Amino acid sequence: MSKPKNTAAVMDRARPLDRQQAHEIQAFGHTTRMPNALSQNVAKQSVENLNQVLADTSTLRDLYKKHHWQVAGPTFYQLHLLFDKHYEEQNDLVDQLAERIQSLGGVSIAMAPDVAETTIIPRPPKGREEVPVQISRLLHGHEIVLKEARSMARQAAEAGDDGTNDLLVSDIIRGNEKQVWFISQHLVDVPLVKAD
Ligand SMILES: [Fe+2]
Repeated sequence: MSKPKNTAAVMDRARPLDRQQAHEIQAFGHTTRMPNALSQNVAKQSVENLNQVLADTSTLRDLYKKHHWQVAGPTFYQLHLLFDKHYEEQNDLVDQLAERIQSLGGVSIAMAPDVAETTIIPRPPKGREEVPVQISRLLHGHEIVLKEARSMARQAAEAGDDGTNDLLVSDIIRGNEKQVWFISQHLVDVPLVKAD
């Protein structure tokens, strides 16, 4: 003889347990110890530095998407594609930075309002701008990232955090330098059809 089933209880098992709330498991700014043979002080300093580069890289990434959408003029198509390519590359850097922060025991900055409050790249206007202004804005953003990444890379190397140094040098610095080359060449005033 089968047991009588409590139909209501069975049905309730299918209900998604949504709207749950609890305390955070780790506060922003707190670095938890990871078994990675780095001292807490070194990990904490790297997390702090990486969060600044993360906020600025997120901003630069979004600036590329804004310009991908809003670009105008005879070079529209090539810049539309180039800006999106750089957006994708910056997006990959954002992920690498955030995952490095987590692997060091930190908490990575993530949401737009937190990025806005942390970045040192100036906020652009909401409206559209001319191509030379768009590119100048991007170049300024790159220089901010490059300047901080170089000094943070040296700091990480001196502290023995080789993984952070490698990410900053191999990915952030070299990636940004290459993008600077690609976009800065659009501001070189050479004749389009007839040589001077
Ligand atoms: Fe698109």
